[in-house]
Amino acid sequence: MKIILIGPPGAGKGTQAKRMIDRLGVPQISTGDMFRAAVKEGTPMGLKAKEYMDKGVLVPDDVVIGVVEERFGKPDCAGGFVLDGFPRTQEQARALDGILDKMGTTLDHVVVIEVPDDYLVNRLTGRRTCRGCNYMHHIEYDPPKKEGVCDKCGGELYQRDDDKEETIRQRLKTYHAQTSPLITYYSGKGIVRTIDGTGSMEQVQKAIRDAIGA
Ligand code: AP5
Ligand code: MG
Ligand code: ZN
Repeated sequence: MKIILIGPPGAGKGTQAKRMIDRLGVPQISTGDMFRAAVKEGTPMGLKAKEYMDKGVLVPDDVVIGVVEERFGKPDCAGGFVLDGFPRTQEQARALDGILDKMGTTLDHVVVIEVPDDYLVNRLTGRRTCRGCNYMHHIEYDPPKKEGVCDKCGGELYQRDDDKEETIRQRLKTYHAQTSPLITYYSGKGIVRTIDGTGSMEQVQKAIRDAIGA
C-alpha cells in the first residue's frame, strides 16, 4: 500500500497514520517528525528547518526533497508507506513521482482529510505530543490518564512550538496557498479519496478504511 495523507494542520494526518501503519505493516513517513528529530539533535539541517517551522511556513523544497530521498533509500519502504505531510508543493509532488518511477511503482491512494479551519485551532492548541514516541494526545478529545505523561510509552508530553494560535493561522494560510492545489494534481490521476475529518477519531479511521478497502 502506497498512500499519501493530505490535510490541513490538525486534520488528523498523524493520528490516522499511526492507526494505519500497524494494520497495513508499512512505515509512516512524516517529514514534520523527521524535522523535529533533527531539531532535537541540533543538526545543521534541523536548525535551518526550525527557522521556517517556527514561522509556520514551508521548509525549502530542496531540503525537504533531500531528506525524503534519503528516507526512501531505506529497505522498509519497499513494501509500501503512509506519507504524512509530504508532498506539500507541486515541486515535491514531481520529485515524488520521480522517486516512485525509479522504484518502478505508483501510488495507490491519496487520502484527503477535510476539516474546516474553525475546528483546527482548538485541535492544535489542545494537542500534547510525546517526546518519546511522538504520539499525540489531546487535552479534551484524547486526554492522557496521567497529566503530562504519554499513555503509550510513559514519555513526557509537550506542546509543539508551532502550536501557538498565531503560528497556527499562518500554517493554515500556507496549507491553502501551497498544499491544497495538490488535490487537483492528484485528481487527474483518479486516486483521490476525500474523507470527512470532523467526526471522532474512530469515525475518521473507519471512513479511511472504507475508502482504501483495507
Ligand atoms: P507537520 O508536523 O507535518 O505539521 P502539520 O501539517 O501542520 O500537521 P500537524 O502535525 O499539526 O497536524 P496533523 O494533521 O498531523 O494532526 P494530528 O493527528 O496531530 O509540519 C510541521 C512543519 O514542518 C510545517 O509547518 C513546515 O514548516 C515543516 N514541514 C513538514 N513537512 C514539510 C514539507 N513536506 N515541506 C515543507 N515543510 C514541511 O491531530 C491534531 C490534534 O487533534 C491531536 O491532539 C489529536 O489528538 C487531535 N485529533 C486528531 N483527530 C481528531 C478527531 N477526529 N477528533 C478530535 N480530535 C482529533
Ligand atoms: Mg502531524
Ligand atoms: Zn509516548
